[in-house]
Formats: sequence, C-alpha cells, structure tokens
Amino acid sequence: MTIRVGILGLGMMGKFHHDTYAKVKGARVEAICEVDPKKRQGIIGHGFGEINVSKLRVYSQAEALFADPALDMIDVCLPTYLHAKYTVAALKAGKHVVCEKPMARTSAEAKTMIEAAKKSGKQLFVAQCIRFWPSYAKARELVMSGKYGKVLTARFCRMSGLPAWSWENWLHDPAKSGRAALDLHIHDVDFVQYLFGKPKSVLSCAGGLKKGCLDHIITSYEFGKDQLVSAEGAWEYASAYPFAMTFSICMEEATLDMTRDTKLYLYPLRGKAAEVKVPAGDGYFHELSHFVQCVRSNRGSDVVSPESAMNSVKILEAEVESARLSKPVSVRC
Ligand SMILES: NC(=O)c1ccc[n+]([C@@H]2O[C@H](COP(=O)([O-])OP(=O)(O)OC[C@H]3O[C@@H](n4cnc5c(N)ncnc54)[C@H](O)[C@@H]3O)[C@@H](O)[C@H]2O)c1
Repeated sequence: MTIRVGILGLGMMGKFHHDTYAKVKGARVEAICEVDPKKRQGIIGHGFGEINVSKLRVYSQAEALFADPALDMIDVCLPTYLHAKYTVAALKAGKHVVCEKPMARTSAEAKTMIEAAKKSGKQLFVAQCIRFWPSYAKARELVMSGKYGKVLTARFCRMSGLPAWSWENWLHDPAKSGRAALDLHIHDVDFVQYLFGKPKSVLSCAGGLKKGCLDHIITSYEFGKDQLVSAEGAWEYASAYPFAMTFSICMEEATLDMTRDTKLYLYPLRGKAAEVKVPAGDGYFHELSHFVQCVRSNRGSDVVSPESAMNSVKILEAEVESARLSKPVSVRC
C-alpha cells in the first residue's frame, strides 16, 4: 500500500519533506497546497531550489487539499501559529496528519490537536526529528543500554544566525514563532525529555527577554537525581555563523560526544576513543519513513506520541516562565 501525501506549506521545510518522501519506501507526494503563487509553480526561493510540480495536484486553499479524496495523509509544514488550526481541520476531514515541530504555538493549542485526533480515529504524528537523528538516536540507545553506567552530566547546544527565509517574516514575530526558544531550542527540550523523561522543574535564563524575543536560552533540568542536564539554544549569532548542533553525555564509564564535528565519538574511561557508527540518512528521512510505516500498519508512533510532543511545549513554557521570573519553575505535565 502506498501512502498518498499532500504537503501543506511549501517553504523551507515543505521542500525538505517533499524531497525526502522521494526516498521513503511506501509513500508518494501527490499534491501540494501553497498561498504563494511562485511556490505553487515549484519555485521555493531563498536558495532552497525548485521542485517539479507538473505531476502534482496543486492547490491554493487548504480546504481543497483536505477535500482531495485520493490523499491519505497531510503533511503540515505551515508556520507554527497555524499548526493547530489546520491540523484539526485535516483530521476532521478524515486524513492522517504529520505536523512539523514544535507541535503548536502553545500547549493549549496542542491539546486541541490531540482531541481532534482521538475524535477522528486518524493518526497524528509530530515531526520531532532529533529523536530520529542517527547520532542522537544512537547516543540514546547507548545510554539506555546501561553499559556505561549512569549519566552524570549531559549538555545539548543548538546555535545559528537569525533565520532569513520565512514567509511574511513569521519567524521574527515572537507571537507567531516563539522565536529561538520555541522554534530552535525545542529540539533539545524534546530530546532531553525523550532521554530522561519529564523534568520536575527547570531553571532558565534568556537573552532578548526585554524585546520579548528569547533569542538565547540556557536551561538546567532537575530530575531529582544527582545529575546536571542542560540545554542551550540561540539564533542571535551573525548570519555568517554556520548552524551547529552539538552534545556531550558524560556517564560513569564513558563519555559520548558530538561537539568536534558531526560524528559521534565514544571516550571510554579505559581504552581508546572510537567513532560510533550510525545509520546513514538524516532525521527527516528516518522520521518520515517511520510515520509512513505507522500509517501503513495503522498504528501510532512508539517513538513520538502526540502527548509527549505536547509535553515538550509544556516544558518549554515552564522554561520561558523561569527565565522571566529568574527562578526555578515546576513542570506540569
Ligand atoms: N524539523 C526541523 O528541523 C525544522 C526546520 C525548519 C522549520 N521547521 C518547522 O517547519 C514549519 C515551517 O517552517 P519553514 O521554515 O518551512 O517556514 P516557511 O515560512 O519557509 O514556510 C511556510 C510556508 O507556508 C506557506 N503558507 C502560509 N500560510 C499558508 C496557508 N494557509 N496555506 C498554504 N500555505 C501557507 C507559506 O507561503 C510558506 O511557503 C515551522 O513550524 C518550523 O518550526 C522545522
């Protein structure tokens, strides 16, 4: 069975997903929907290239995409503040939905998406791609194996310049994107939750607070254990600064590290350091392959449930509150 996909929003991420589905077994993009006439012709702009739309059904209104009877699944690659509205509508129209991260602008909106999925009986997947990123997934597998003892400290970082490509500059508007805290740092918030579970509380500090922008956030996560877990995300760096995602996880018997380059290394307490081999492909390929297989076998995802994606937004909301109050904030999820 081939899952027939319609992509809603063909900006940077819609283009990435479009290209990725071509490599994913059991799925085919059959339709796209875009409000921008140039993008409807396949011209994405901002250096993201072009796609051939000649064999696709092309829509300018989401309602028409959702009404296309030949589609099984809608892939929502819209600006974050539109995720909830259009995901709920797609589910109501009887489609399975993949929604880009962060799940929604607020956890309250995310809740409406979960309720809509339950009512519709259709699958809802949130594209928290770092859970599927080979080096991160492998690091988690090694930590969970217990082979190297308990985690003593873990540190996750994600830095970039200010994104310059977004439609109507929505990424620059804190009310629409949540700026670096929600748009960028959520990747590490989500991975921290995936690796360690829900924190009891968070302690954050942030840059850009006075402008309401949260363009640099540093958080320490409290799990009630003798462990230091932190994550830092920023996008106020110069535009020439190359995007970087890094982490190091120090365990009793070894340290895992992806800070020197994009490769994962294991440094045992005794013995030689070694590169850890990871599966080929990026997180987008592995997450979409996984979601497509879930739909084909009519099951939810055991890697990223909608509830856990909503909880990542809740944890982030606690971080924002902590940064504003300059004190630890309990996480309520
Ligand atoms: N997983 C990742 O690594 C990753 C990376 C970048 C962005 N994202 C997420 O993907 C989402 C999209 O981000 P982006 O960078 O692609 O933004 P973007 O601005 O490049 O793309 C959004 C697209 O949606 C279109 N659009 C807006 N309203 C529409 C509507 N009602 N109907 C149809 N089309 C509409 C716009 O014209 C634009 O092309 C965001 O939630 C973002 O956080 C995820």
